[in-house]
Amino acid sequence: MSEIERILNAREKKGKKNFLSKINFFIKKNLNIIFGNYYEFNKFKKKKKTFQGWGLITTDTVPPWKNQDNKENIFFNKTNENLKDLADSKDFRLTQFDYEDANYRKILDELSWRHYIVFNSVLLAAKNASQNMINLAECGVCDGLTIYFAAEACKLSNIEKKIYLYDAWENLGNDKLRFNYDYLNIDITKKNLENFNDNLIFNKGLIPDVFQNAENPAQLDWLHIDLNSSEATKSSLDFFFDKLKLGGVILFDDYGGFEDTRKIIDEFFKNKNGHFTNYPTGQGIFIKI
Ligand SMILES: C[S@@+](CC[C@H](N)C(=O)[O-])C[C@H]1O[C@@H](n2cnc3c(N)ncnc32)[C@H](O)[C@@H]1O
Repeated sequence: MSEIERILNAREKKGKKNFLSKINFFIKKNLNIIFGNYYEFNKFKKKKKTFQGWGLITTDTVPPWKNQDNKENIFFNKTNENLKDLADSKDFRLTQFDYEDANYRKILDELSWRHYIVFNSVLLAAKNASQNMINLAECGVCDGLTIYFAAEACKLSNIEKKIYLYDAWENLGNDKLRFNYDYLNIDITKKNLENFNDNLIFNKGLIPDVFQNAENPAQLDWLHIDLNSSEATKSSLDFFFDKLKLGGVILFDDYGGFEDTRKIIDEFFKNKNGHFTNYPTGQGIFIKI
């Protein structure tokens, strides 16, 4: 039992206690101390899970995309469901999760909170934008999964967009490898994102070198950094931070998951005007003020 539940139960029962309930309380309290963790775990196991995935388990609270009274949530849910169909039919290839018996629907379900935050961070950037046009950039694109949600959010915001994409899309070299990305193929990413191709600029190459000769935005409203590399994260921040407009948003995928990346991000924002929030998904959002 959580401490909040225990206190609320105790307050409700206080005053009603008779001798038997006092004994009952005494026994339960002591059993709880002795078998606390086991009892807690069993109780938790019996609870209906409202969400499970990406390192999170929730009970009781309903995920926002299941709240069908809100147009943003309805749109997100449709986007997520469409993508599950596309992944199933391999019209959207998830090469980062390719395996003979991979259940893409389940994978996308498990990533829903992460993608919900990606989607909403773009809605926020679009609301903060001074014109009906926003520039988005993503460092670490892979198959195009997260940028798919970002592009869909622009559709809902009814705002024009240009999306600058940065990735090596090939072997990164031994010193940079936290994960192996040898399997990536830029043509698969282009095919996955073909509905948005008019608005996409593909910049293929190693960060930071790629910034030198790439087609870069002069100003930026939204930046997603998902590189699984602290050095490349720092280089991306150094390159893009001054281009970020006031009210612009930087979303980090790796803040909670990698200590070296978290340290670099914390250090970077020490002397910057803005607001940083860390989410239970490990994502972090900075809003420039
Ligand atoms: C975790 S994946 C990105 C996932 C993607 N945002 C998604 O979920 O849809 C990390 C990507 O960063 C790229 N990457 C990592 N370090 C890089 C570097 N120094 N330069 C260019 N790309 C890099 C990898 O090629 C890989 O595609």
